[in-house]
Amino acid sequence: MTMNTQTISGVFAGEVTGIDITRPLPDETIAAIEAGMDRHAVLVFHDQPLTDDTQRAFSRQFGELESAAGGHVTAVRDRRLPLDMQDASNLDQNQNVLTRDDRRRFFNLGNRLWHSDSSFRAVPAKYSLLSGRIVAEQGGNTEFADMRAAYDALDAATKAEIDGLVCEHSLMFSRGLLGFTELTEAEIAMFRPVCQPLVRVHPVTGRKSLFLSAHGGTIIGWPVPEARAFLRDLTEQATQRRFVYSHRWRQHDLVMWDNRQTMHRVTRFDESQPRDMRRTTIAGTATA
Ligand SMILES: [Fe+2]
Repeated sequence: MTMNTQTISGVFAGEVTGIDITRPLPDETIAAIEAGMDRHAVLVFHDQPLTDDTQRAFSRQFGELESAAGGHVTAVRDRRLPLDMQDASNLDQNQNVLTRDDRRRFFNLGNRLWHSDSSFRAVPAKYSLLSGRIVAEQGGNTEFADMRAAYDALDAATKAEIDGLVCEHSLMFSRGLLGFTELTEAEIAMFRPVCQPLVRVHPVTGRKSLFLSAHGGTIIGWPVPEARAFLRDLTEQATQRRFVYSHRWRQHDLVMWDNRQTMHRVTRFDESQPRDMRRTTIAGTATA
């Protein structure tokens, strides 16, 4: 079998076939996947029954794994997964579905907002790799918006205006949008804002993209309400359906995306049923 990457009809994302990512892969295959990521920004691999170990092994070929430390209100001792895997499930450490009023669930609801993974970290994420171990029967799609196309579609005056702007990102801003503001002193210190440019340039293709995220809450030098209104306008424009691919999960899908070129969100699903999604994240490089 040879690896083949096909653009998914009508969207920017690609579907990769003819490859078994649960086994070690030669360097040229990894390079071909990287090239596919540069072009499509989202790649879908079906029928890949990964374990935590094989997911780690596949992921590590694209760079260093990011640690989940500092990115959640769940204490490290209460985590269901080790720190090198982000838990995108609705489960607690005993594999029980989180109850409706659990603050860990409130925090997870932030994933319903358009965001770029770890934009709240000084070193934001390069790639995220999400493995569908138990997928939702209804809903729970992961939607991706192409931030390159969104940038290209801006008028010249807006492009000139945003050139060089720097935003502050924090988990406090994204959770604040949902009214989840009850944080401890330690959490507030952990979620200290970091600076990110509003426009990024892809290191390989040179394409510009909008670096938006629900975590973005201020623009340096702007009044806060004006910055938030503007970021909201940009997000609305950037997430029009013509820029979006909505991924309907099948069990054992692995979806990989470039956080530098896309935003994503999860759609609503029946949270009384277990949904077990595990993410490995490739650390990027500091932007500021
Ligand atoms: Fe995410």
